Amino acid sequence: MEILDWDSAYRLRPYVENQPHPEVGLMGSLFAKHGVQRVLDLGCGDGRHLVLLAARGFQVFGLDRSFWGLRRSAEWLQREGLSAGLVQGEMTCLPWPPGFFDAVISIQVINHNRLSGMIRTLEEVHRVLREAGYFYGTLARFNPAVLEDPRHEVIEPRTFVRLEGFEKGIPHHNPTEVELDTLLSSFDVLTLGEDTFEPSYFSFLAQK
Ligand SMILES: C[S@@+](CC[C@H](N)C(=O)[O-])C[C@H]1O[C@@H](n2cnc3c(N)ncnc32)[C@H](O)[C@@H]1O
Repeated sequence: MEILDWDSAYRLRPYVENQPHPEVGLMGSLFAKHGVQRVLDLGCGDGRHLVLLAARGFQVFGLDRSFWGLRRSAEWLQREGLSAGLVQGEMTCLPWPPGFFDAVISIQVINHNRLSGMIRTLEEVHRVLREAGYFYGTLARFNPAVLEDPRHEVIEPRTFVRLEGFEKGIPHHNPTEVELDTLLSSFDVLTLGEDTFEPSYFSFLAQK
């Protein structure tokens, strides 16, 4: 059966990613050093970072729009004897009060948006973080080859929609480094650059 979206990927092919992004382990060490307790994994997928962070003793929450991602996350956590608060929802509208989290991570998620959705998501992350809370994320970098690819329709600058196959119809806004720095301007950007483990991505660490 053809897998066209994340929900069917998690339903039919668990676990899509079973090794954590190495920098999330490093973030765990940074968070522990700075007294972080409550962490949100925004777009947690099928749970690889929830498991990692819960095992390190953080109070972990995960939000994703995919029912099957959350179900696989819950199963994995249960197998490890761990727990997390799991919520099905949209990244543009987070169901937590201001200042609820000490840290937010979001790995390869927030660019699944038009520019306006990404701005809204960043406002939401900023809202749910406490003062001086950390935000670590990765997202795909702008690649001009997309403009030439007939399988993609560019719907606004640096935003394209796939016309076929996996994630058909889902907008992706892939910023340049300068643009991403501007998008993060309500935070202090501590680091921003190429994701050394996934060179077609940026990774950043920011602080409210
Ligand atoms: C590339 S996967 C990354 C999953 C996970 N962060 C990881 O690293 O394994 C992208 C995830 O973003 C989720 N997602 C996409 N758009 C979303 C939205 N608008 N609100 C919440 N989750 C969304 C998808 O369901 C999927 O789980």
